[in-house]
Amino acid sequence: MTQDELKALVGQAALAYVVPGTVVGVGTGSTVNCFIDALATMKGQIAGAVSSSVKSTERLQAHGITVLDANQVQSIPVYIDGADEIDHSGCMIKGGGAALTREKIVADLAEHFVCIADESKLVEVMGQFPLPVEVIPMAAAQVMRRFAQAYGGAATVRAGLVTDNGNVIVDVRGLKINEPLAMEAEVNQWPGVVTVGIFGRHRAKVCLLGTAQGVKTLSF
Ligand code: 5RP
Repeated sequence: MTQDELKALVGQAALAYVVPGTVVGVGTGSTVNCFIDALATMKGQIAGAVSSSVKSTERLQAHGITVLDANQVQSIPVYIDGADEIDHSGCMIKGGGAALTREKIVADLAEHFVCIADESKLVEVMGQFPLPVEVIPMAAAQVMRRFAQAYGGAATVRAGLVTDNGNVIVDVRGLKINEPLAMEAEVNQWPGVVTVGIFGRHRAKVCLLGTAQGVKTLSF
């Protein structure tokens, strides 16, 4: 199966985690696009969606799915999103699509994070994928220096990109994220960092992994 077919497979499989009558949290990315297209088949059964990006909002609305502001809901049963990497404890790197801050906000509203990913995303130690960090523009150079000093990572500003929140993304290469929770807590303290793309505190409870043998369910 191609990577796109695996994404379609897990996007469809995620429907089993949508709780009828409730609001569903929706992430961002090509795998989530497959989920959104599948969700359209049960739009009459849900109370709406909370979205993590302008792009996902547009796709949901194009299917006639009601999109609610995050401030309108107190909690949601499930948040469904992809990942750039996921380790064997459910911790993830996210933000390849630059939506990490809103993704973490919606994940925080949710009781369960269900990650949908093709098998290339499952890793032993995270860091092969450049770690995205959303940063207030005036702090970008200082945050990049700090990464080099603290973790030996080589950081660059993602060219030509402004996030939905008006900030920049710094991508950090050359990291080995052996302690995701500690690194997440540390980097989130640095002035100017809006969100680091390590999802440790908001790690997945379940990962639906698309493999050549079908969908594998990993529980953490
Ligand atoms: C967007 C994300 C995505 O979930 C991540 O980049 C995976 O995307 P895709 O499903 O296209 O591989 O974090 O900010």
